[in-house]
Amino acid sequence: MTSPSIQVRTVDLTKKFQAGKKETIDAVKKLNLEAKSGEVLGILGPNGAGKTTTLRMISTILSPTSGTAVVNGNDVRKNPLQVRQSIGYLATEMGLYERLTPVETLTFFAKINGLEQRLIDSRIEEVFDILDMADFGDRRADKLSTGMKQKLSLARSIIHDPPILIFDEPTQGLDLMTSKTVTDYIKEFKEDGKTIILSTHIMSVAEKLCDKIAVLFDGEIKAYGSLPALMKKSGTSNLESLFFDVVNGET
Ligand SMILES: Nc1ncnc2c1ncn2[C@@H]1O[C@H](COP(=O)(O)OP(=O)(O)OP(=O)(O)O)[C@@H](O)[C@H]1O
Ligand SMILES: [Mg+2]
Repeated sequence: MTSPSIQVRTVDLTKKFQAGKKETIDAVKKLNLEAKSGEVLGILGPNGAGKTTTLRMISTILSPTSGTAVVNGNDVRKNPLQVRQSIGYLATEMGLYERLTPVETLTFFAKINGLEQRLIDSRIEEVFDILDMADFGDRRADKLSTGMKQKLSLARSIIHDPPILIFDEPTQGLDLMTSKTVTDYIKEFKEDGKTIILSTHIMSVAEKLCDKIAVLFDGEIKAYGSLPALMKKSGTSNLESLFFDVVNGET
């Protein structure tokens, strides 16, 4: 068997924001991360650490100040369109069209992602099945519950069956059952040899799902590696202790 290929790589990825006239925010500083096929990379970090900014740069929503990311062989700076075709991006703010139903929303996104008309209906059915959405397929988005909306956002990000998923806090706002649906889906997706990069605040999600973890603090990677390797290195017994040690500067 050939070794799994690197699907996402960041190379000194950096973002500075200009906040007001004088203040510059170093949101992400020279980040070097890698995720291979069949791998889930989890980005952990406190509020404001730079997780969303990192995921946005990988997804071509924000352009890096310096450095770059290479996604499925395409540089985000040079080939943003190709990058977009190979990823499904789930943002924390949902931005759904309130008047459209899930069926209409997904049809729209399938079309703009170039899915052939004859495949759209069966793909929607498949996604409804995966995420257990059939019951509310024809209800307007503004009439959906928070969890239903989150499922719809998720469905929208995977409708074109991309090889790479970039998920910003995918289980946010979900009840236990729905959260399990989503984590089970991520596991299946990984078993299919696809690549997932996600951010989360939930340690149990990270422990269950992630092959590799990057702890981000103040725009920098403070710990990076497989969970067992990180535990061994830091002498802690669980991810939560490791997280606090890292954030408190004790590792
Ligand atoms: N558009 C922007 N303009 C200016 N500053 C920004 C912008 N977006 C993010 N920042 C700043 O960059 C830093 C990192 O923010 P980011 O949203 O990446 O954090 P995060 O790790 O996702 O946090 P959270 O856990 O709260 O979602 C913060 O200091 C934030 O204020
Ligand atoms: Mg965020």
